Amino acid sequence: MTRDASGRCAERGEIKTTMSRKKIIFDTDPGIDDAMALLFLHQSPQVELVGITTGPGNGTIDVTTRNALYLKERFGIAAPVARGAAEPLTGKTVPPAAFVHGQNALGDIPLPEHIASVPHDLPAYRFIVETARRHPGEISILAVGRMTNLALALREDPEIAKLVEQVVIMGGAFGHNGHSGNVSPVSEANIDGDPLAADEVFAAAWPLTAVGLDVTKETRMSNAYLRSLADEGGEVGQFIWEITRFYEKFHLGRGVQDGIYVHDSSAAAFLLDPSLFVTRTGPIRVVTEGLAIGQTIQKANVLNLPHADWDGRPSHAICTHVDSPRLLGFYRQVILHGIHFEEVSSD
Ligand code: BDR
Ligand code: CA
Repeated sequence: MTRDASGRCAERGEIKTTMSRKKIIFDTDPGIDDAMALLFLHQSPQVELVGITTGPGNGTIDVTTRNALYLKERFGIAAPVARGAAEPLTGKTVPPAAFVHGQNALGDIPLPEHIASVPHDLPAYRFIVETARRHPGEISILAVGRMTNLALALREDPEIAKLVEQVVIMGGAFGHNGHSGNVSPVSEANIDGDPLAADEVFAAAWPLTAVGLDVTKETRMSNAYLRSLADEGGEVGQFIWEITRFYEKFHLGRGVQDGIYVHDSSAAAFLLDPSLFVTRTGPIRVVTEGLAIGQTIQKANVLNLPHADWDGRPSHAICTHVDSPRLLGFYRQVILHGIHFEEVSSD
């Protein structure tokens, strides 16, 4: 099997022509696991990446936008990068998580001084609005950082809720499988960074699924798994190995003995193969002040419990269970060969 400079397989092009590809806007704060999810999307024949929109979180907006442009350049990603809002809607700056992702947010691997690519002319929220309007019914938004850009897009043009095909977010912690917050006992980082924006995103009547810590902490890429990506996955696999050295140390410090949790790539996998997950539906609220700020609470539709804070809001899905072995197999197949797991077995 031959590979091009990015590590992709030549055969991939043949598969691509036989299937219709999902048009995806990837809203992200790269970030180690964000970069891993981006490379997964880039390698997948199921995906047409139409834009990358950035936000602060794992680094400042300057750092995450620089990283998105770096990844675009290094791996030949055609999609434009639109720079997102620097500050959350709450107006309360939450500092970057350098202890999780490194000072440069890519695990402190050496990065070039200068990136030739420049961001798109439009700010992220306008890019989202214009792209959704240009392709009505066709755009999926995969948001794996704070929800600020999505909330700003909704404020600018609430109609986009009817125009996008679906929204999948990595965010929240709903208490399934014993998993709660990773910033506070109840709050997950992407929601914690802008709880107000997240509550507005959950208030919109677009088809939305939240892939929270409930499932992302159920899947772990072991050191041996990551090593095998490095050994067999060409430049992409080697890059994943390099950036995850820092991330593995962070996990070890948090008591994870072998490997890393799979946050952002779980959300990407849901978008491409929802059969990997079990979901539950119901309106979702975010606590926007006080001790429990950032907590995400779904009132399950099966619960016969009228309550004004949830009633009248649209029903959304959350993931409650994941088939981790199958998800890991899927990710590996796409990184190594640019093909979906099922396509391998049907050969
Ligand atoms: C989320 O926070 C960030 O550190 C990761 O990139 C992921 O999106 C997990 O809580
Ligand atoms: Ca992220």
